[in-house]
Amino acid sequence: MSAELQAIAAEAQRRRTFAIISHPDAGKTTLTEKLLLFGGAIQAAGTVKARKSGRHATSDWMEIEKQRGISVASSVMQFDYRDCVINLLDTPGHQDFSEDTYRVLSAVDSALMVIDGAKGVEPQTIKLLDVCRMRDTPILTFINKLDREVRDPFELLDEVESVLKIQCAPVTWPIGMGKTFRGVYHLASDSVALFTPGEGKDAEVVKGLDHPSLAGFSMEIAKLKEDLELLAAAHQFEAEPFLSGKLTPVFFGSAINNFGVREILDALVANAPPPKTRESAERAVAPEEGKFSGFIFKIQANMDPAHRDRVAFLRVCSGRFERGMKLWQVRTGKEIRATQVVAFLSQRRATIDDAYPGDIIGMFNHGSIEIGDSFTEGENLHFTGIPYFAPEMFRAARPKNPSKIKQFQKGLEQLGEEGAIQVFKPLSGYEVVLGAVGVLQFEVVAHRLAAEYGVEILLENKSLFGARWVTCDKAEDFNRFERENMGNLATDASGSLAYLAPTRVNLDLTQERYPSVQFHATREHT
Ligand code: G4P
Repeated sequence: MSAELQAIAAEAQRRRTFAIISHPDAGKTTLTEKLLLFGGAIQAAGTVKARKSGRHATSDWMEIEKQRGISVASSVMQFDYRDCVINLLDTPGHQDFSEDTYRVLSAVDSALMVIDGAKGVEPQTIKLLDVCRMRDTPILTFINKLDREVRDPFELLDEVESVLKIQCAPVTWPIGMGKTFRGVYHLASDSVALFTPGEGKDAEVVKGLDHPSLAGFSMEIAKLKEDLELLAAAHQFEAEPFLSGKLTPVFFGSAINNFGVREILDALVANAPPPKTRESAERAVAPEEGKFSGFIFKIQANMDPAHRDRVAFLRVCSGRFERGMKLWQVRTGKEIRATQVVAFLSQRRATIDDAYPGDIIGMFNHGSIEIGDSFTEGENLHFTGIPYFAPEMFRAARPKNPSKIKQFQKGLEQLGEEGAIQVFKPLSGYEVVLGAVGVLQFEVVAHRLAAEYGVEILLENKSLFGARWVTCDKAEDFNRFERENMGNLATDASGSLAYLAPTRVNLDLTQERYPSVQFHATREHT
C-alpha cells in the first residue's frame, strides 16, 4: 500500500461519525453541549443551548430559524477526542422533520440514543430507532437524569428490550437515584464513579465497593449488591452484535451535571465503528480507496440572507478531499472546483484544507446541487439509501398577490430542492401542490417564503390519498399511462414523475390497470 493510501486508511480509522437520537426533552441539547465541552470544542456551557429550537411552539422554532447562521453551523460539529476525530451530526428535533432526520441518519456510522430515565422509551425514540434499524446502525444508549426520581433501571432496560427490540448490555449501573444518587458502578472494572452535583468536569473514581469513600452510602450500596446479583443474567457487551445493531451498551448518568459524559466519549472511541464500506448502485466503495467520493444528504439554503447562499452537506465516503480539487458531479456530469468548501468546527464554520472518510464538508452553491447527488473524481458512482418519502399531506398553494408569481416559483423551487417540502407541478393546469410528511412543514414553508422571498402564500387543503413516483421500462406502456392519467400526474422538484392518487381505491385500481408501471413510495436520488 502506498504511503498516501496508508494515510487515508489511518485517517478513516480514527473517524467517529454519529448523531444523537431522542424524544424531545430527554436531554439531547444538554448532552451535545457536554460532549463538546469534554471534547474541548467549546469552553463554556450555554453555547449550544442558546440556539436550541423551540420544541413546542412553531413560533419559537421560526424565531430561532431566523438565526439560521448559528443553527446551521452547529448542524455538524467536529472535535478531537483522544486519538479520534469525532463528527457529531445534529438531527432536527421536531417529529415533522423525520424526512430530514432520516437523511442525516444515512450519513452516520453510529447513533447515541438518549432516554429520560423518568419517562423511558417515548414515541419519537421508537420512530428514530426504526430508521436506524433500516441500516443496522450501531446504537449506544445513555439513560439520563439520574439526579431525579427515575424509574427502576431494570424496568427501563426491559422496556428498551421489548419495545425497541434491541438487547441491552449495561456498562455502568446507577447507585441510588434522585436525592440519593451516589454515582455509577462500572461493571467491568469494579469501580465507582462518584456523583457530585454541579458542572465539575470529571467524577472521582474509586476501586471496589468497600472503598472508604462509599462508607456513608450503605443503603444504596446494599441495593446495588442486590442488583448485581440480578445483573449476572444481563447481556454482556460484545462487539459483533453491537456493530450489527442488535445489542446496545447502556450507560447511566446526568448530562446536566456532566456526569457519565466522559464514559460516552470513551465508548465512542473504543467501540463505535469508523466509516465502513458504502453501497453504490455500481459497486461497494471502501473508505480507504485512494479516490475521493461522497454524497449529499442535506441542503440548507439562505443561511446568510445577504448572500442567498446554500450549503450542501456532503459525507465523505472514500479518499481524501483537498481544497481546490476538482470534483465531478455524477448527476449532471459537470466538474466543480471546490474552493468554497467549509468544515464544521463546533460553533463556527471554518475553511478547510482536507477531509477524510466520515467527515462532513459543506459546499456552497446556488442551487446546482441536490440531495442525493454523488461527487467523485470522475467515476460513475451513485450512492444509495438516501430516499425521499411519499408525502402524506397535501396543500394547493398560490401567491396571495398574483404579481409575485416569479418569486413564488423561485422560492418553491429552491425549498423543494432543499428538501424542506415536496413541490409537485401537475402536468395539466397551473396549480402547485405541496406535499409534506408532517403538517408543520407547510407552516415553515409559508413562513420562509414570506421572510426570504417576500411572497405571502395561500394554502388550501387538497384531499389526496398519496403520491407515488412512477417508472416503467416499456416506453409505449408509459406513454399510454401518461396520456390516460394526465389529470393525476405531476413532476416534483427534481423533474421525476409522480402519480397523485385521490383515494386508496383509485391507487389500487390504477396499479392493477397498468401492471408494467411501477409505483414507488420512496424515491432514491440517482
Ligand atoms: P432536548 O434537546 O432533548 O429536547 O433536551 P434538553 O437538553 O433541552 O433538556 C430538556 C430539559 O431537561 C431541560 O430542562 C434540561 O435542563 C433538562 N435536563 C437535561 N439533562 C438533565 C439531567 O441530567 N438532569 C436533570 N434534572 N435535568 C436535565 P428545561 O427546564 O426544559 O430547560 P432549561 O430551563 O434547563 O434550559
